[in-house]
Amino acid sequence: MKIAVLSLFPEILRGFFETSIMARAVERGLLSYELVNVRDYATDKHRKCDDEVFGGGAGMLMQPGPLSRALEAAGVRASGGNGSEAKRIIYVTPSGRLFNQAMAADFSREEELVLVCGRYEGVDQRVIDRYVTDEVSIGDYVLSSGEIAALVLVDAVYRLVPGVISGESLLEESFSTGRGEAVVDGPALLEYPQYTRPANYDNLRVPEVLTSGHHANIARWRLRESLKKTLAYRPELLAAEGLPTELRRIIREIMTEGGDDEPHTENPGAADEGPGDRL
Ligand code: ADE
Repeated sequence: MKIAVLSLFPEILRGFFETSIMARAVERGLLSYELVNVRDYATDKHRKCDDEVFGGGAGMLMQPGPLSRALEAAGVRASGGNGSEAKRIIYVTPSGRLFNQAMAADFSREEELVLVCGRYEGVDQRVIDRYVTDEVSIGDYVLSSGEIAALVLVDAVYRLVPGVISGESLLEESFSTGRGEAVVDGPALLEYPQYTRPANYDNLRVPEVLTSGHHANIARWRLRESLKKTLAYRPELLAAEGLPTELRRIIREIMTEGGDDEPHTENPGAADEGPGDRL
């Protein structure tokens, strides 16, 4: 996969692409990237890329000229024209479609992604109309720039490119498929709590079942914990039709129990409150 990001501040992005798993993926040839400074495509001596909004309103808007030239230089052609079909041209904006794991999976199957980062009030609509295939928001809040949003999107996408991280890790995590099959045959669930060594840290003990070596019990415990957490933080994920009967049964059980059935601490005060208490 090739990822090109167009931005007025590519230095915000560079560290991410040069670090850790992304750097390794690039080194191994699984990914390549290009950071394009839109300002390089300004034509006046001040390298101006923004101007006031027609019709009035606060803030500045990115002008169509520099951004269009940057897109064309990155190989993007006007939609409907030749060349653009093979690519997704993604503009990150709070007024886009809400990003989720299913979209990340969809983007991860593309050969090439081009991301456009807005600054100030955003970008001139004519650029969106001519080049952009997807307008994407990462959440219902407004960031001061598109760069952070673009990185969120790239991070969620590139790790799904085959070979970047192990398939097993992907399968087990929250929202692994966007539809939840990986966790259980049903809805997406939030991930269960996880622990590592030492088994006893400052009198806080790892739940015994996890060190028992009994795989079926571990799987049952994890499913139950996932359901508890989903009920506490994201109950709407469980409201979907067609919830498997087995899950319904466990949920009923959790809800009638109320409290946390397995305190993980020897400190009675610390066990007083947990997600279970809010179910
Ligand atoms: N730019 C500013 N806020 C944003 C958001 N929530 N999502 C995507 N791009 C943005």
